[in-house]
Amino acid sequence: MPVAITDLAAMKARRERFVMLTAYDALTARVLDEAGVPLLLVGDSLGMVVLGHDSTLPVTMEDALVFTAAVARGARNAIVIGDLPFGSYQASSREAVRNATRLMRVGANAVKLEGGARSVKAVRKMTQAGIPVMGHLGLTPQSVNAFGGFRVQGRGERGEELLADALALQEAGCFALVLEAVPAELGTRITEALEIPTIGIGAGPGTDAQVLVVSDLIGLTPDPAPRFVKRYADMRAILTEAAQHFAKDVAEGIYPAPEHQYH
Ligand code: KIV
Repeated sequence: MPVAITDLAAMKARRERFVMLTAYDALTARVLDEAGVPLLLVGDSLGMVVLGHDSTLPVTMEDALVFTAAVARGARNAIVIGDLPFGSYQASSREAVRNATRLMRVGANAVKLEGGARSVKAVRKMTQAGIPVMGHLGLTPQSVNAFGGFRVQGRGERGEELLADALALQEAGCFALVLEAVPAELGTRITEALEIPTIGIGAGPGTDAQVLVVSDLIGLTPDPAPRFVKRYADMRAILTEAAQHFAKDVAEGIYPAPEHQYH
């Protein structure tokens, strides 16, 4: 049965932990959907994972639309969240609503954007327009230059600011909040202060849900991985072995065999 946005708050109320994974293509989306993953995020991490950039900053609205549409075509039951890329929502809330609408038109069920107080107005406008919005606080990769690198956020007094940002995003209408690379104690504190679910990535075990980038989950991304990554498969090794085996079979005339031929 399709997952509804409203199911998530109920899951939090029942203390039922859940997961979100990124997806960028229809085939992977279908597999993850059939595995029962309730939330598929077409993250702007696609800029690094799929397009080979060093950061998420070069991702364009056109990129986001193409990959969101692909994932939406592959998903059946999962909620598909389209990530608003850098520059697509910061200039004005009007621009934010316009670009969020474009993501919804290609099949997203919700959108995500980064930032606390500075994003509240845009969140309010989008939710008023009927667009479900997921917030994102902590190490927000679109601000990597302002942060001086991919660094843990919210240590010391900055934790109070993040808590205030989280409450402001909830008040503005966000249905869930990603917390990235913050101290575990802060992840728990924000989770306990909110009615909406928190989805952690490097935010400790106290959040309501956990998210990983799918290529990290399956061990496709090279080392070094961030501290919070746990690899649940070694696809790098599996793919290397398959490619080498294929090349060996061809070199030795083993492939194609009679059963692979047309007559
Ligand atoms: O872009 C992305 O994949 C994300 C997740 C890491 C939360 O924002």
